[in-house]
Amino acid sequence: MRRDWDDRARRDAFYYIASWRKDWDADSFFRSGEEDYQRLVEPLLAEYGFDPQGTAMLEVGCGAGRMTHCFARYFREVYALDVSLEMLQRAQTLLPSSPNVIWVLEPGPGLSKVASESVDFVFSYLVLQHLPVERLVLDLVREILRVLRKGGMFLFQFNSSPHPSMNWKGRLVWGVIDELWQLGLERLSRALTSAVKLDSAIAGRTWRGASVEAGKVSEVARAAGCSAPHIEGENGPMTWCWGTKSDADGK
Ligand SMILES: C[S@@+](CC[C@H](N)C(=O)[O-])C[C@H]1O[C@@H](n2cnc3c(N)ncnc32)[C@H](O)[C@@H]1O
Repeated sequence: MRRDWDDRARRDAFYYIASWRKDWDADSFFRSGEEDYQRLVEPLLAEYGFDPQGTAMLEVGCGAGRMTHCFARYFREVYALDVSLEMLQRAQTLLPSSPNVIWVLEPGPGLSKVASESVDFVFSYLVLQHLPVERLVLDLVREILRVLRKGGMFLFQFNSSPHPSMNWKGRLVWGVIDELWQLGLERLSRALTSAVKLDSAIAGRTWRGASVEAGKVSEVARAAGCSAPHIEGENGPMTWCWGTKSDADGK
């Protein structure tokens, strides 16, 4: 995962982070993070009466800091964590120094650098959808609940779509490319991708990650301490899960 994301960061970090657009510049890239914060995070915090001031949060898979600058504005302390050193270096170069952001290079795939019950809010967007197998997705959900303080909130996105997003030809070609990658034949996988004039940076299962049933994610979140996880967008690529970690008396 680290090698693939380092490679993507070197080629074009903005595009591989937010691949719905090609012509990003720093302004538009960071503005899209602001819009996502206002669209995805702010309303939910308000609904739960969660005041970020004075609290610590963790962003899992912060990339080049597209949303990190917003978290830094509202939260007392931001742990911006990523598996890719190249991504973190770009984030640090691009963002004006924020004394309340702590950049965390995580060996992955879990959250080994973050202490249990140490943050009040955990957020992750466009990350779990790239994890290559279901087990890693569910393990990361467990980790998110582990590092959260009792009474703290989480919000993360994952892919639960049962349907492939490509036609049969695309599925066949990417199927062979990904199979080679999974067999450890990564050079061959990339060479084949280039030979058929596809983007070799997205060869392999760290791009087309695993889709996981929403029910399994809820079950894991419940077992890890969230009594009533909410799910939205089930059976789609943009599935959201959020909730709070129950405190000692189960609330
Ligand atoms: C598509 S980018 C999204 C970045 C950011 N969340 C955003 O919305 O701008 C995915 C990021 O997740 C990171 N990543 C991938 N697997 C990870 C893992 N297991 N733990 C932490 N970060 C991971 C990648 O290095 C990359 O920076």
